[in-house]
Amino acid sequence: MVSKKIKSITPSFTINISAKVAKLKSEGKEIIDLSIGEPDFMTPNAGKITAKEAIDHNKTKYDMVPGLIPLRDSIVKKLELENHVKYSTSEIVVSSGAKNAITNALTAILDPYDEVVIPAPYWTSYPEMVKLCYGVPIIVQTDKSNDFKLTVKQLSEAITDRTKIVLINNPSNPTGAVYSKEELEPLIEFCINHNLIILADEIYERICYDHPFVSIPSISERAKEITILVNGFSKSAAMTGWRLGYTASNIEISKAISTLQGHLISHPSTIAQWAGYGALKEGSEDMKHMVSIYKNRRDTILPILNQLENVGYVNPQGAFYLFLDLSAYKKFYNNHDSFSIAFCNQLLDEHQVAVVPGIAFGNDDYIRISYATKIELVIEGLHRIQELLSFIKK
Ligand SMILES: Cc1ncc(COP(=O)(O)O)c(C=O)c1O
Repeated sequence: MVSKKIKSITPSFTINISAKVAKLKSEGKEIIDLSIGEPDFMTPNAGKITAKEAIDHNKTKYDMVPGLIPLRDSIVKKLELENHVKYSTSEIVVSSGAKNAITNALTAILDPYDEVVIPAPYWTSYPEMVKLCYGVPIIVQTDKSNDFKLTVKQLSEAITDRTKIVLINNPSNPTGAVYSKEELEPLIEFCINHNLIILADEIYERICYDHPFVSIPSISERAKEITILVNGFSKSAAMTGWRLGYTASNIEISKAISTLQGHLISHPSTIAQWAGYGALKEGSEDMKHMVSIYKNRRDTILPILNQLENVGYVNPQGAFYLFLDLSAYKKFYNNHDSFSIAFCNQLLDEHQVAVVPGIAFGNDDYIRISYATKIELVIEGLHRIQELLSFIKK
């Protein structure tokens, strides 16, 4: 009954894990859930207030397809002030979450069989999104020694005459790695010279701990011209349920995205857009507070990670994830198709800790832990991981 296209799509690993956790909880089990990529903070107050005002003042009708003008104006200001890149209001299209922003961008650019380069490890939805938009995901293996960041050499080996887009997620989910300006510049130069569009998913951009974040389109006028910037409110403003994201791109692309959005969803809920407007206008202290807490957690966790036996990890400089290398333990799971799935199932069933298997991100040697949850739980979760590792070795 359903299309071949939908049959080629893998259901989301993270959603499957959440379903399993919910089932175990409903059976009365206490689970430490380190699998979710959702901030444990609430919507900034300013956002709640503007959303309530919008309802009370009946700002509940259809509005402009690319988004409310006051919201797009404040996105323009944010990008200029915080990310040092100047867009016009008409270059912004507000969407229902960054997910919708990414699929808008892919749909606007890709013809059937066009290729999209995706560095692995990748956020689990990218390859499926590319397939849904009739493209072909080209997964590029990157190096652990470089914190899994894409290099020009790897990119040059991956492109063909069908390559249209290079996807760069910075800071990265699942690794927490962050690209420096020096690492981005040659990649951008390569994309300019090879007529490639950069789809820059910078949704974790505010959650960046050690160095000022460098946004790809801020690097040069040419970088801006070839980049579709994706950002949103889910992670840095803890507004996951409002479903609010956006793209910033050149006018040809923003018009194309707006045209297709006009037919698909018109625009995201106006109430959500007013909430985003409030959060951007007056929520910056709340957002800074959240980032300082994530940073404290990261700093508390690192010494514990260093004590885990034979466990490596990617240096977490941003986002709120830890990507742990458990390859030293793979040999104990030889009779399983996927090491990371078998390990995560055992951890959940026997130690009541939920984490995400690395295979969901294209690397079966790893597991992903989220620290967007109370630090005591993360510490307890890591202790239980150590318990399981010690048990496996015996
Ligand atoms: C890298 C990355 N991009 C995009 C998204 C989607 O965000 P949104 O909730 O705004 O759709 C996520 C959510 O987990 C993510 O991790």
